[in-house]
Amino acid sequence: MVSSAVDKPYPNADLENLWQQFLLLILVIVAIFSLVWLGNRYREMQDPYVQSVMAIPGDADRGEAIFMNNCAGCHRADASGLVGPKLWGVSERKSQFALIQQVVSGATPPMPQFQPSPQEMADLLQYLNHL
Ligand code: HEC
Repeated sequence: MVSSAVDKPYPNADLENLWQQFLLLILVIVAIFSLVWLGNRYREMQDPYVQSVMAIPGDADRGEAIFMNNCAGCHRADASGLVGPKLWGVSERKSQFALIQQVVSGATPPMPQFQPSPQEMADLLQYLNHL
């Protein structure tokens, strides 16, 4: 015989169970994403090149000279954008790590892959942070 909802002491028990399982699933997914995110931030911080760049106090004037020689052709001398986008306030939109990656990775052609020394990168970063 098919049992009806009326027979059950708590007719909504199955439904509540389902909600609990659903919430638990969401919680687990959020926890996994948080862990992956934290792991990535940790690995970024461990990167030896990034560590040496962050340890050096950059000089914005030297950074400007590097920018004029290597970047201004695409981003314009005042960084207002041409082939590459406008870079004003870029450090508010991107983390220091993301800015370093943008310069050294070559992941977004046509922007080339640059290989600045840690000192040059620190100078450039300092300049980018003031745009
Ligand atoms: C050949 C042209 C070119 C040169 C040279 C170039 N860039 Fe770019 N740049 C680009 C392009 C195109 C993008 C957009 C890439 C994308 O996101 O698809 C970009 C993006 C960026 C971004 C990210 C902007 C944002 O809003 O996310 C930064 C920062 C940047 N460039 C900095 C530099 C620096 C610093 C240099 C010099 C060391 C440089 N670029 C040299 C073309 C260039």
